[in-house]
Amino acid sequence: MNYNIDNKPLLDVQSLTVRFTVKRGGFFSEAKHLYAVDDISFQIKRGETLAIVGESGSGKTTAALAVAQLVKAYKGRVDLDGTDFLTLKDEALRLARSKMQFIFQDPYSSLNPRVRAEKIVREPLDNLGAVRDEERQAIVDKLFEAVGLHPEQQRLFPHQFSGGQRQRIGIARALATQPDLIICDEPVSALDVAVQAQILNLLRKLQADFGLTFLFISHDLGVVQHMCDSIAVMYMGKIVEYADRLSLFNNPLHPYTKALLSAVPTVDKKRRAETKRILIPGDPPDPLDLPKGCRFANRCPVAQDRCKSEQPILRELKSGHKVACHLVDENEVSPL
Ligand SMILES: Nc1ncnc2c1ncn2[C@@H]1O[C@H](COP(=O)(O)OP(=O)(O)OP(=O)(O)O)[C@@H](O)[C@H]1O
Ligand code: SF4
Ligand SMILES: [Mg+2]
Repeated sequence: MNYNIDNKPLLDVQSLTVRFTVKRGGFFSEAKHLYAVDDISFQIKRGETLAIVGESGSGKTTAALAVAQLVKAYKGRVDLDGTDFLTLKDEALRLARSKMQFIFQDPYSSLNPRVRAEKIVREPLDNLGAVRDEERQAIVDKLFEAVGLHPEQQRLFPHQFSGGQRQRIGIARALATQPDLIICDEPVSALDVAVQAQILNLLRKLQADFGLTFLFISHDLGVVQHMCDSIAVMYMGKIVEYADRLSLFNNPLHPYTKALLSAVPTVDKKRRAETKRILIPGDPPDPLDLPKGCRFANRCPVAQDRCKSEQPILRELKSGHKVACHLVDENEVSPL
């Protein structure tokens, strides 16, 4: 791995915006733009993990797909290791993309059921064509070992594995091209709690062993609490809070983050005694008809008139913690 000596982020995403054109209603209805990701910026240093957290529909997957040019960004810039990724095309894009791999939520549907595990893991190497044929098997052997699978399991088909083992195959496959960045989109959401812990431990170990950088997507702050260096909380296409892990867990500032965090079970007795479960009433607004002011205002227990008319911008506080809420002042106290 070539480590950056100037400590520049491996991934630098600036003002990324993705909009879909959606037609709702009858044949003659007007097409509207749905801003699934709306002007978000984030950075990940080499060897670190950024978690993007938010409820369903907040734009997490779309943001990740846009980073990899798997959906088209409407605006913004993505730099991967100093390369302006969104301007790449054809062969240059194919090569650069091999440095960025995905692990998906559902190991049941993301692996081809008719292909043996060994070939599933080897395929990215075959597609890349950069490694000599005879070396590929040795790499596959090492990958099976690295993810805790036995050599004889290479001959099996996906349905002959448990859910957790299938996710291990997905991880081995993602590692095959020695990527710099791995995008994990809800990698443990489909698994039992005990298996979730095993897979999270495995990802952490692989990160330490291979210096991997993760963009880790989850709807559950509990899953990322032992997994990341920093966290961006998304709501309706926007980042509403962005901080290092400890700041976010110890001093959540945005009312939405506070509510998400109050639902996370904790073994810390003090925190358990202090935390009241905050229920968020109502539903998120229609993404095709967003309010003028704060997108969380219709559900926020402390919303004021200003919140309904003026959209809060994501601003950086003295500690480096970023938040988009009118009611958080420089004393860094949450209004909720
Ligand atoms: N291809 C598409 N065409 C139109 N709208 C889309 C498309 N893909 C996503 N959306 C919309 O964009 C918004 C964000 O979706 P996205 O899948 O990125 O959310 P998510 O945070 O990953 O949610 P989940 O936790 O359910 O996976 C949603 O309103 C969704 O309906
Ligand atoms: S800006 Fe207002 S509505 Fe939005 S989160 Fe802050 S207090 Fe709540
Ligand atoms: Mg998603």
